[in-house]
Parts: sequence; C-alpha cells; structure tokens
Amino acid sequence: MSAFNKERVLSVRHWTDQLFSFTTTRDPGFRFQNGQFAMMGLEINGRPLLRAYSMASANHEEFLEFFSIKVANGPLTSHLQKIQEGDTILVGRKATGTLIPDNLITGSRLLLLSTGTGLAPFASLIKDPDVYDRFQTIVLVHGCRQVSELAYGEQLVGNLSQDEFFGPILAEKLVYYPTVTREPFRNRGRITDLITTNRLFADSELPPLDLETDRIMMCGSPSMLEDLRVILEGRGFTEGNHSEPGHFVIEKAFVER
Ligand code: A2P
Repeated sequence: MSAFNKERVLSVRHWTDQLFSFTTTRDPGFRFQNGQFAMMGLEINGRPLLRAYSMASANHEEFLEFFSIKVANGPLTSHLQKIQEGDTILVGRKATGTLIPDNLITGSRLLLLSTGTGLAPFASLIKDPDVYDRFQTIVLVHGCRQVSELAYGEQLVGNLSQDEFFGPILAEKLVYYPTVTREPFRNRGRITDLITTNRLFADSELPPLDLETDRIMMCGSPSMLEDLRVILEGRGFTEGNHSEPGHFVIEKAFVER
C-alpha cells in the first residue's frame, strides 16, 4: 500500500501574491486530530515531493483544506501554487503533531498564537466543538506583516460566526485578534510585544496572562516561537508534549527554505 492517498483538488483560492488555500477530497480512511499535520505535495517528474502541512479543515469535515505560502523558487510551492480544480495532490496517510488539547494541562483560557500560515492548525481547532467544551475562552491571535495577509483568517472567523451551530459558541467564547506589523491597522505590533505590554489583553478587555488559567498553542515564524518560549518560561510556563502535558505547545510553520 502506498504511503500516500491521491486526492482531487476541489477548489483553489489565491488570497495574495504569496498566500493561497485549497480544498481536496478526503480519503474516508484518513483520520486526524484537529491541529495536526500530514505530509502533502505533488508528484513532480514522476517522484513524490511532499512537505509537512497542517490541516486547516476540521476532522468532522468531508474535505481537506490547506493554507500555503508561495515560494518563488520553492521546490514544492512553485508547482503547488499552480494547482487547479481537478488536479491530483498527495496526502500522507499518517497525521501527527503537538498542537492538540491533550498535550495541555487543564486550564480555562486557550491562547492560539500564530503568524502567517501558522494560522492553519488553529483554523482546524476553532472548528472543534471539544475545544469550546474544554475552555471558557479561546483567544485567536494572527500576526502578519500586511493587512492583506489577514484575509483568510478574517473570512474563516466571519463565516464561522454566521454558522448556525458555531455562531453562538463563538460569540460567547472566541476572541479574534488579528494584528499587523508593517502598515496601519486597528491592532498593531508583534505578538511578543502585545503579550509583554499586556496590550492584547487590555484591548480585548480580558485579564492579563496567568499561569493558573492560561494554556497556549503557538505556530508560525521560528523566531517568534523562540522569543515566546523565553517569555513564557520566564513566567513559569512549561512546554508540553505527548508524554507529558504542559502549559504550552509549539509547532513551527512548515515554510520551505
Ligand atoms: P515584523 O514585521 O516586525 O518582522 P514573517 O513574514 O517574517 O514570518 O513574519 C510574520 C509576522 O511575524 C510579522 O508580523 C513579523 O513581524 C512577526 N515576527 C517575526 N519575527 C518575530 C519575533 N521574533 N517575535 C514576534 N513576532 C515576530
């Protein structure tokens, strides 16, 4: 049996000249936990070329969704960005990843901190009813350089807010905080600074960061992840994993070098 499923592209949407998302069919045998990733890619010159991609769709959805950057000379994304409806992509049969609620100690507030395409696993998690059962408040932060890069997340949260089932839950529990660093926007600044200055919490009329209540998942720019880790460990937060849950978990965004 091949290590990959062949899936058919159902739709493609280009958000900026550097970001796109697409949906595909989903093999009924492909199981994953919301927040996990799998290998995904294309057959190029007769050989499979795959990279780790978080599923942006939730595991209760019939299709798969991915959110990707376009790297001009990237071995995979230079091809992947050209896919069209009807094309075939490859998806590894096994999903994995640390951004799952079981890797966190019980808490009441969940902070989902992302930059760029690091939003993808959280797109999946905010569609997971279990996450809303476990936490009283979920704060979704998405940091980008430009306002245009927020579009995928804004539409995701907008659509979910209109949903018959999720709408009332989001209204009660989800705080969405998009922020931009390189042009004017209502929320400005790096996620690290927004946390250390308390501005994230003040702007959202929420209590400040608290070891007792806050659990954190983060995904995105490697330097942001490292800086956040230092800030959090300095305040007594510990990193969790599959063998031992902690106060926070980290997944790097899978950007091609
Ligand atoms: P900035 O514009 O100040 O560099 P990138 O596209 O480089 O991955 O960055 C995505 C977002 O992450 C940008 O808003 C960027 O802010 C921010 N960022 C990059 N490095 C860090 C870091 N070390 N700490 C916090 N935010 C960061």
